[in-house]
Amino acid sequence: MVNDKNIFALTVLFNSPNEIIDAVSKVRDAGYTRYDVHTPYPVHGLEKAMKLPTTKIGIFAFIFGLIGVISAVTLITWITLYEYPLVIGGKPFWSWPAFVPVSFEITVLFTAVLSTIVLIVLYFKFPNISHPLHDTSYMKAVSSDKYGIAIEATDPIFDFEKTKEFLESLNPQTLEIIYYNLEELNHKPKVYDLKFILLLIVIGLTSSAVTYFTLNKLMFMQPFNWMMLQEKIKSQEKSSIFSNGIGMQKPVTGTVARGFMPYPYSGQPAEAEKYLLNPLLPTKEVIERGKSKYLTFCSPCHGNFGHGDSRLRGQFPNPPTLHSDKMRAMKDGGIYHIITEGQNIMPGYASQISREDRWAIVHYIRVLQRAHNPKEEDLK
Ligand code: HEC
Repeated sequence: MVNDKNIFALTVLFNSPNEIIDAVSKVRDAGYTRYDVHTPYPVHGLEKAMKLPTTKIGIFAFIFGLIGVISAVTLITWITLYEYPLVIGGKPFWSWPAFVPVSFEITVLFTAVLSTIVLIVLYFKFPNISHPLHDTSYMKAVSSDKYGIAIEATDPIFDFEKTKEFLESLNPQTLEIIYYNLEELNHKPKVYDLKFILLLIVIGLTSSAVTYFTLNKLMFMQPFNWMMLQEKIKSQEKSSIFSNGIGMQKPVTGTVARGFMPYPYSGQPAEAEKYLLNPLLPTKEVIERGKSKYLTFCSPCHGNFGHGDSRLRGQFPNPPTLHSDKMRAMKDGGIYHIITEGQNIMPGYASQISREDRWAIVHYIRVLQRAHNPKEEDLK
């Protein structure tokens, strides 16, 4: 007689997918719940015949994705707000559109990796890597070309004789009784075996040591070490030479670059208007150049034709028209001074527009003014 306690399952093998689907429906209808089907490849319709509930992987994946996106956003928030706030292009520290790609990637990563690990642990009971079906002729057959059903002895309605009779009535090719291998059952999971872990450690240490030695000692050549070894301040390092600790000092106030004359009428609009003369002739090229620069730098506020009709929709106060009597009477030097140093809330453009271009703009403003208030002879 067989000892019921040692039986893991009763298994039967079939020759074709049709037979297995038929047999599975009967097993299911007979009321068995703890059984499994093994086929060499995914057989369509099997899950319907087994009446399997919808998989719960989606719920797991959703939770892991949620963990991923929360971790990513938390980490980024902590870095950008507390640990290392950096001004990037004047944007706010917590600038969420920039976080989207990274958070998305982390979400996918967490979902994929955690789902895989957790499912292996939950369903395959890792680290227990042995299973009674392993190493049986049944498993060899179903991983080759047979289709099998295994009804486990833990099934509530399992009765050795009755179940065997029932399975035989399905006309299987073979019927096999699978016993627990008690020795294996009492054995600790093999991955925790001390010898195995020691072997892993030895392999890890040896291969890292060999790689390190080969790449960093044996094959390493230092090409130009004088630049690597020289005394220097690396970015964000403190300099011990200067009292304020900054390595790259600002030039002393009043420093003048070689070959460069500083603007002599700083803060003196009246003098600028009086003494400065436009060095350019109003040729076609000069006016074209002035037009291009005017449209780039001035038109956003002053409008394309100088009427003070800004395109900024109230983000900056509208300037007065450039066709006023005051402006038409102002000499070139005065306008040049306003472009150079600004006036009240209008900023100076000395750092953005070269001196020549500033003079060219003045010529172009004259063109606009004359087009707006033509003289008698212009109309002839
Ligand atoms: C950011 C907007 C802005 C830009 C760009 C700008 N301006 Fe102005 N501009 C103003 C404002 C505002 C005023 C009036 C300032 C004031 O209150 O005196 C002004 C005044 C002037 C005046 C004096 C007008 C007057 O009646 O007193 C001149 C001339 C002038 N701008 C020329 C230019 C030129 C040339 C450029 C291009 C290089 C330029 N501006 C670019 C906003 C701008």
